[in-house]
Amino acid sequence: MKYASYLLNIVLIGALGYVGYKFVYDGNVATGTEDRTAVILTAAEKAEVLGEMRGLLETSQAVLLAATEDRVAEIPDIVRPFGMAAVEQESITLAAKLPLDLKTMGYDAHRAMDALGEMAGNGASGDEIVATLAGAMSLCTSCHATYRFVAEEEMN
Ligand code: HEC
Repeated sequence: MKYASYLLNIVLIGALGYVGYKFVYDGNVATGTEDRTAVILTAAEKAEVLGEMRGLLETSQAVLLAATEDRVAEIPDIVRPFGMAAVEQESITLAAKLPLDLKTMGYDAHRAMDALGEMAGNGASGDEIVATLAGAMSLCTSCHATYRFVAEEEMN
């Protein structure tokens, strides 16, 4: 009887461990259903667009900081490199690989940066800048929910 209950304990502990392991470990892959559209680029193009993305994030952060620290006058200079000026440097081959919908959202995000600079130049308040940036950032989130970039070199 005692022996049987030891065995039962071992089985139970094993089962609990297994469930715990599945829960924690498989948690990493539970979101494996990938329903975002993959946009296939070369590794260099992917590096270029991701670099542009990090620039957009840094710009958004710098704008928020300036707007909340009473430095609105600095915003036109902060956003300039990531307005439409950034798009003009993109190659035509890259542009051709981007779906129209993605391009439109991307251009709108860059235009939003220029618009923030213009607002700041026209004497907008920090609060108005923050509200406008918050609205524009829905472009970031909706595009991220829809697309991902895959380098053709990574596909084998
Ligand atoms: C037109 C679509 C689009 C817009 C708009 C967009 N992004 Fe992205 N961004 C992407 C895609 C696609 C990726 C890659 C995601 C992936 O492959 O999983 C990405 C990746 C990123 C990354 C990760 C960069 C890295 O080095 O891995 C950051 C940061 C980022 N975006 C910030 C932003 C911010 C901030 C905005 C808005 C100001 C923005 N993005 C707007 C499409 C977009």
